Amino acid sequence: MKKMMKKFALTVACVMTVAMFAACGGKDEKADTITFGTNAEFPPFEFVAANGVIGEYDGIDMAIAKQIGDEIGKTAQIENMEFDSLLLALQNGQVDAVIAGMTIDPERAEEVNFSVPYYTAKQVMIVKEDSSIAKATDMADKKIVVIQGYTGESCVKEMGYPYEAFKKGSEAIMELVNGKCDVVVIDSATAQKYVGDNEGLKIVEDAEAFSSEEYGIAVNKKNTELLEQINEVLNKMIADGTINELSAKYSEQ
Ligand code: ARG
Repeated sequence: MKKMMKKFALTVACVMTVAMFAACGGKDEKADTITFGTNAEFPPFEFVAANGVIGEYDGIDMAIAKQIGDEIGKTAQIENMEFDSLLLALQNGQVDAVIAGMTIDPERAEEVNFSVPYYTAKQVMIVKEDSSIAKATDMADKKIVVIQGYTGESCVKEMGYPYEAFKKGSEAIMELVNGKCDVVVIDSATAQKYVGDNEGLKIVEDAEAFSSEEYGIAVNKKNTELLEQINEVLNKMIADGTINELSAKYSEQ
């Protein structure tokens, strides 16, 4: 008897769930949206702005995310979190994809799948205009600042120099502006932005010390269908010049 009651209750619960979905137009909200994880602390790729391309989020990556949503018939949504948490959020299913100026590297590629590369970058050094740093080895006896979890941190670590890691690029730049460190190692386009926005700074490049990096969109290894869809849109945006246009537009701003 008890068993039958349980079965009945279960059936009622099931019917009600189905009815609830039907009442909402039969739409499961998840099916209509694509959620991108990012860390909106990385201009010109992602930053918070009054009138962003997706809500308060703007930048090259955000415009790409918006277009991916449009082309696959879903509304693109952004979940902003710490850079370090992004790949975990992807693996947990909290986000569908990660678009965050993220460099495709073998370690990360063990955890997630990467799209085709859509942007080439490299690490550079930001220093005060009167700095004597002219190449990477000049950092040896200097106070170096990096951003936690960024590829710049791995580069400096590999060189064997001591450094301090900050959570945000803007915090690292403040350290430099205030004379509390000598050099910040970060991605080229973001460095350009910071140097443009702050007086008295310059960029020093060292092509021998820092090899080029490519940004890709990360997708859960199980979600090969989404990866294919994303690659299709990216390939189109690369071929028709949209990505170049977006890069130019957001770099000038
Ligand atoms: N390209 C670097 C990396 O992959 C930095 C990316 C930082 N991106 C961000 N949205 N905060 O580690």
